[in-house]
Amino acid sequence: MPLKTLTIDLPGRAYDILIERGLLQQAGRLVREAVRGERIAVVTDYHVEALYGSILKDALEGAGFLVSITAILPGEESKTVSTLEKLYDAFMDFGLTRSDAVLALGGGVVGDLAGFAAATILRGVDFVQVPTTLLAQVDSSVGGKVAVDLKAGKNLAGAFYQPRLVLIDPGCLQTLSGRIFADGMAEVIKYGAILDKALLERLSAQEPASLLRDGLEQVIYRCCDLKRQVVEEDERDNRRRMLLNFGHTLGHAYEAAYQYRSYIHGEAVAAGMCKMADLQQKHGLLAKEESLSLRSLIARYGLPTRIPCSMEAYEAAIGLDKKGRGQEISLVLLRRLGEAYLQEMPRRQLFDWLREEE
Ligand SMILES: NC(=O)c1ccc[n+]([C@@H]2O[C@H](COP(=O)([O-])OP(=O)(O)OC[C@H]3O[C@@H](n4cnc5c(N)ncnc54)[C@H](O)[C@@H]3O)[C@@H](O)[C@H]2O)c1
Ligand SMILES: [Zn+2]
Repeated sequence: MPLKTLTIDLPGRAYDILIERGLLQQAGRLVREAVRGERIAVVTDYHVEALYGSILKDALEGAGFLVSITAILPGEESKTVSTLEKLYDAFMDFGLTRSDAVLALGGGVVGDLAGFAAATILRGVDFVQVPTTLLAQVDSSVGGKVAVDLKAGKNLAGAFYQPRLVLIDPGCLQTLSGRIFADGMAEVIKYGAILDKALLERLSAQEPASLLRDGLEQVIYRCCDLKRQVVEEDERDNRRRMLLNFGHTLGHAYEAAYQYRSYIHGEAVAAGMCKMADLQQKHGLLAKEESLSLRSLIARYGLPTRIPCSMEAYEAAIGLDKKGRGQEISLVLLRRLGEAYLQEMPRRQLFDWLREEE
């Protein structure tokens, strides 16, 4: 299998995304080509450290790097300012200098947190992403959004900070639980729904259980390439990048309605996409077959197509959506499968649509 490479072409900050099974073992040489320093501070979580920490450490040391590994408790609860402070202390104890690098080995939690730490320690050091969940491989490791959560909400303290390199080893996904794998599939399906009908057709034709063995690299490559195009056009999330929020306005409401306990992000987004397509269809804005076909694909990949939610919960969450400005909300709607657009809509109208449904 040839090494798949994409280059994110941002002025002065271009970087490669490399995708291939077994890349973790080659990380030393590849990271050496992308960063300057001699020290690498690896940030990971305890699950991922146990699975892949020593493979990565050996590979980096084999290329002559001095390596430290700091592991955090797995889960969103760790994406906080207090964990950030622990990372800063660990970096200083390790003797990290401005020419050294931070490397994130893990899912989106580790990537967002380590990325924000890299962006801010010593006013910014080189950063490398080695994503190990499907969600992180197709979405969070690409595009430079890094953040931690605050009491007031998720991702509220953050930055745009592009990595120097993204190393994607799809072999790492073998150890994911079925639930976390499906979680990432929600974002894969989202890319198809908003930008690429052919990707949806491919997913419909594939037996979900066989995807891990067959064709996953191509699917990851396609998603990263779609994200590349969007990020190159709109790095700062002012317009086109917002299309990536399809299903997310309602998805965030579902996550919040159950205090982030019952449904993980991709599950909530999956149900959010179904609900939005359904609402559009009921208001004559999307053909019924399109809405049904999206729903059946989401179900095929083991994701929920509906999450019960009260009007109070919708209002509490959507009233606070940080992407919404004033009384209008920017919604991502589908023109057809594979093509999305942004629509400003009065919040009240969205609530009316939702209320008709309850
Ligand atoms: N920066 C962005 O653009 C962006 C985009 C989407 C999501 N995010 C963020 O990503 C986070 C969610 O990321 P996530 O879903 O990857 O969650 P996560 O990082 O919590 O990982 C999920 C679980 O999988 C485990 N895990 C990771 N890799 C594994 C592997 N290879 N084998 C076995 N277990 C493994 C982790 O230990 C964890 O328990 C959220 O905080 C979200 O805000 C960021
Ligand atoms: Zn998402």
